[in-house]
This record gives sequence, C-alpha cells and structure tokens, in this order.
Amino acid sequence: MIEYRNLRIALLGAGAVGSQVASLLLEHGDELAGRVGAGLELVGVAVRDLEAPRSTAIPQQLLTTDAHSLILGADIVIELIGGIEPAREYLLLALNSGADVITANKALLATHGPELFELAEQVGAQLYYEAAVGGAIPIIRPLRDSLAGDRVHRILGIVNGTTNYILDRMDLEGDSLEEALAAATELGYAEADPTSDIEGYDAAQKAAILASLAFHTTVPLELVHREGIASITHEQVVSARKAGFVVKLLAVCERLTDPATGVEGVCARVHPALVPLTHPLAAVHGANNAVFLEAEAAGSLMFYGAGAGGIQTASAVLGDVVSAARRHVIGGPGVAESTHADLPILPISSVVTRYQITLTVSDRPGVLAQIATLFSTHGVSVEAVTQSVGHDTGHGPSAGAGHHLSEPTATLVIGTHQATEGALADTVAALGASDVVTAVTSVLRVEGTE
Ligand code: NDP
Ligand code: HSE
Repeated sequence: MIEYRNLRIALLGAGAVGSQVASLLLEHGDELAGRVGAGLELVGVAVRDLEAPRSTAIPQQLLTTDAHSLILGADIVIELIGGIEPAREYLLLALNSGADVITANKALLATHGPELFELAEQVGAQLYYEAAVGGAIPIIRPLRDSLAGDRVHRILGIVNGTTNYILDRMDLEGDSLEEALAAATELGYAEADPTSDIEGYDAAQKAAILASLAFHTTVPLELVHREGIASITHEQVVSARKAGFVVKLLAVCERLTDPATGVEGVCARVHPALVPLTHPLAAVHGANNAVFLEAEAAGSLMFYGAGAGGIQTASAVLGDVVSAARRHVIGGPGVAESTHADLPILPISSVVTRYQITLTVSDRPGVLAQIATLFSTHGVSVEAVTQSVGHDTGHGPSAGAGHHLSEPTATLVIGTHQATEGALADTVAALGASDVVTAVTSVLRVEGTE
C-alpha cells in the first residue's frame, strides 16, 4: 500500500532522450509507483521552444520555459539538456534547493563533476548519472555498488557508438572513413558536428567518468590522453584484419606503476587500437557500446548494449528515477562519491603495451637486419614480422631519409612485445630517419592481449 506523498519530478529537456523519459514516466507511472512505494508525478518539462515538435506526446500544459520555478518545486530534477550552461546552473540550483538530481550529461560531469558531487554531499542529496556512459548499459551502478568490494585493475571500453559504427563499416563494408561517417550521419548516430565523436572528445569524457569511479580518484578530463579516428585509413583496417585484429576506438583506464618513476597511479587514454578478433570487444558491431573490465576477484566482466538512442538511454534515466524516489521514501543522506584513493594521474608515457608498426622499406638484402637492429637498439622486442611486396605511395605519415623513387619497395608489418611508449616513440623516430625506410605508414597500439 502506498502511504508516502507523491514525489514531484521536474524534467529539463524534451529532446531525443527527454521526450522518451516523459513518455515512459507518464505511461508507466502506476507501475513505477508500486516499485517505489510513492506516486511519481511529472510536474513539468522545461524546454527552449514551447512550439517545437516532440517525438512523443507530452501534454502542452506540462511544457514551460521557466526552468527555475520548475526546479524550485521539485523533489527530483532530471537534466537532459546537455552541454555545460545552463545545465550546470540548473543542477546547482536543484541541489541547493534539496532535490536529488539525475543527469545523462557526460560533458558536464567530466568537467564539473567534483563541484556537483561536493555540493550534493554538503546538502545530503544524491547525484545519479547511469545514462552518462554507455546509454542503456548498466555500468555506473555496477562500478559504484556491485564492484565496490573489489579492486578494478583495468577497463577497456567501446564507449562511442558513432566511431564504432564507422570503424565497423570500414571493416565489414569496405567504406572509407568519409563514406562511413556519411552513413552514420544519415542514420542519426553522429552529432550535427561529429568532431566530438571523431576526435575522441566524447569518449574521453566517458573515460574520465569511468576512471574516476573505478579507481576512487578524480580524473580530470584534461589529463585523459586523447587521439581520434580521423587518420585511420581503409588500408589500416584491411591490414589489421589480415593480421587477426580489428581496429576499435578504445577508452583504456588502468591502475599501473610508471616504469620510469615507480609511482603507482591511474592512467586514462582514448585512441584507436588493434583488438584481437578473438577478444569479446571485437564482436561489438554497429553503434553498440561495451565495457570490458578486469577486477582482482571478479576476473573479467563485459557490459554490452545500446550506447545511445532516445528510448534506450531513457531506460537508464528511469532506473535512476526509481533509485532517487526510493531514497526519498526511505530517507537519510545521499551516498557521497568515493575519491578516497586519490591516486596520482599518470601520463601516457607510463603505459606499457604492444604495438604494430607498418613500414614501406627498400627491398634489398640486409634491410630486415637493419630494421631489427633499430628495434633492439631502442629496447623494443619484435614479436612477428610479415613482409609483402610493396608499392611507394609517398603518402606515409613519416617519409624515411633514404627514399629513392626508382627503388623496389616492400611493406613490413612488425608486431612488438610489450614496450614503453617512450621506447616505441624513439624507435619510430629512428625508423623515420633511416635510409632504408621509405615511410612509416601506421603505428597502432595493440590492446586486449596478455
Ligand atoms: P537534444 O538536443 O535532443 O535535446 C535537448 C533538449 O534540451 C531539447 O528539448 C531543448 O529544448 C532543451 N533545452 C536546450 N536548452 C535549454 C534551456 N536553456 N532550457 C530548457 N531546455 C533547454 O539532446 P539529447 O536528448 O540527445 O541529449 C540530452 C542529454 O543526454 C545530453 O547530455 C546527452 O549527452 C545525453 N545523452 C544522449 C544520448 C542520445 O542518444 N541522444 C545518449 C546518452 C546520453 P527544445 O526542444 O525546445 O529545443
Ligand atoms: N555521440 C555519442 C555516441 C552519443 O556516438 O556514442 C552517446 O553518448
């Protein structure tokens, strides 16, 4: 039997996600009330334009452009506007007025998370953000609650649907990056300005959120190493598959010890990487997301599903609504965000991983031996080399010093054992300067192997 008063819910934004949240709250209100033990009343929906078309039917009398008044009368405020301002101002107002807040806004959390979490703790409220990473996929609550007793070592995440869709099309349909991006835009996956997806900014925001949560340490967005997929070519994707890999844009968050300084800390990075075809992440196709996680006791876990989409993301928001409403019914302060470990944030140079380097070289005796010597001189151990008869495109990222146009060339694909970023960078620089190397055409990290 429901005895608690109705809880007043304010929704800010009625776009792709907000309109679906409004519709689910209105349609499933009774069922949700049964789960919570209190009625859930959607008291208003703040938008910019009262006349804009909506993808679901929201009663006109609920729409308002007066977000401030709406927030001040609410028990729970859901922010689905996006961007930094006025979303930040509205969440601060909501927390200051004693409401619990729910947001899907990764850009805001990655840049102003500490300010919001601190205020929530001060006022005894709770900030929920399950939808901010991985859309419909439950990953925030598993990290915060289910794995709270374990030690997470590493996270490998495909956390941007647009880039995964693009790389998948390049791999399976033979598209160029431009063709695949056009298809992603047509299907509504890519943002109007896809720079945030293509250049890895969106994934870096999600990496900052995941790393902060997993390692109980605030990881500022500006300390997340970021490389996008703009320079990935069709040739790299084809060559990866031939070698038993697929190219994915990965968010890698790990706890490690810097080999140069001995300092233990957290490193978060986003970049394209080769993933073995046998790894579960290689099977993540289209615009789907997945988070593969390694923990001390739990071992390997993978969370997989729709990383975006209005109704899919609304599912995660509704889960937060139920949690927030239950907390109101039960009472007591919100649970503060845990940053007790406060580990140092390590730079990308602290990373030790495997690499695959593709070179165009002069096809004459002794060249392979010279290349092998260059690797060993810089402390990088070669694991495998494959050679094919090459052709000189002259468009490699790094033309070698001894480039003779008339000379026959070969393509070498060299896989390394684990090496430091620094040793690898020195090796690549030496290869670029070598008179037997025409061009260094690709350097990719290899992740998901021992
Ligand atoms: P949309 O751009 O589709 O919708 C934004 C909504 O906010 C619109 O209804 C707009 O009003 C309203 N709005 C904008 N400015 C104001 C303002 N100043 N005051 C009041 N309302 C305002 O965004 P999405 O629904 O796609 O995204 C919402 C959030 O969810 C973002 O943080 C996004 O990163 C996140 N997210 C989105 C996913 C997706 O698949 N779309 C997936 C995961 C997270 P109006 O309609 O009148 O213009
Ligand atoms: N642009 C994002 C993506 C939306 O492609 O994954 C979900 O955050």
